[in-house]
Amino acid sequence: MAGLAALLLLWSMVIAMPMVHGIDESPQAVEKWFKELGRRKEKVTKIHFYLHDTVSGKNITSFNVTAIKPNQFGQINVADDPLTTGPELNSTILGRAQGIYLGAGLHEIDLLIAFNFVFTTRKYNGSTLSVLARDPILQKYREMPIVGGSGVFRLARGIATSQIYTFDTTSLNAVLEYHVIVIHY
Ligand SMILES: *[C@@H]1O[C@H](CO)[C@@H](O)[C@H](O)[C@H]1NC(C)=O
Ligand SMILES: *[C@@H]1O[C@H](CO)[C@@H](O)[C@H](O)[C@H]1NC(C)=O
Ligand SMILES: *[C@@H]1O[C@H](CO)[C@@H](O)[C@H](O)[C@H]1NC(C)=O
Ligand SMILES: *[C@@H]1O[C@H](CO)[C@@H](O)[C@H](O)[C@H]1NC(C)=O
Repeated sequence: MAGLAALLLLWSMVIAMPMVHGIDESPQAVEKWFKELGRRKEKVTKIHFYLHDTVSGKNITSFNVTAIKPNQFGQINVADDPLTTGPELNSTILGRAQGIYLGAGLHEIDLLIAFNFVFTTRKYNGSTLSVLARDPILQKYREMPIVGGSGVFRLARGIATSQIYTFDTTSLNAVLEYHVIVIHY
């Protein structure tokens, strides 16, 4: 409860501003946006980035919160992984991948991914894309549905293609390359 009280206090301090990064996210503004939807044109946006899933060493951003079973079945990681324009961790940060991945394959290594890509740069600052996907990590390419978004990505739908860029079998740290293509307004 103390945690919740602290959260509410924080919330009361930041709530004054409904405008998030130039986009009005109040219910009135969202309703107006829907009314004008017929006049808006669909557009296609492509985004390319690298996701750094660091599970050991310094600056861990992905935490294994369960015991492992065969094929990682039942294992859950909670992650807040940086997204960068290049494969190096010190390249430009585009945002974070916040969410969970869990072992959902009883007979093979197969993850369920539930991530929000939270963008923090330029015109995407504060906007999000939500991914809910199967990730059979031993396949070269994994196609992941983008099921929605917020901010500039309202009503987004699309596809992310993920592939392993580097995977260290000792530290289990991974860099994943993502190509994202979305339709939005
Ligand atoms: C870890 O984070 C600290 C503080 O943000 C930073 O100074 C340091 O360079 C980081 N270390 C690595 C290995 O990225
Ligand atoms: C996850 O944590 C469990 C229990 O601590 C451990 O046995 C397992 O090796 C860890 N898995 C990974 C992939 O780090
Ligand atoms: C980024 O890290 C690489 C090593 O991973 C290093 O060679 C390079 O100099 C670094 N660049 C900057 C701008 O710090
Ligand atoms: C993104 O938005 C936050 C909150 O409004 C702001 O503090 C930050 O400077 C912005 N970043 C960029 C790169 O525009």
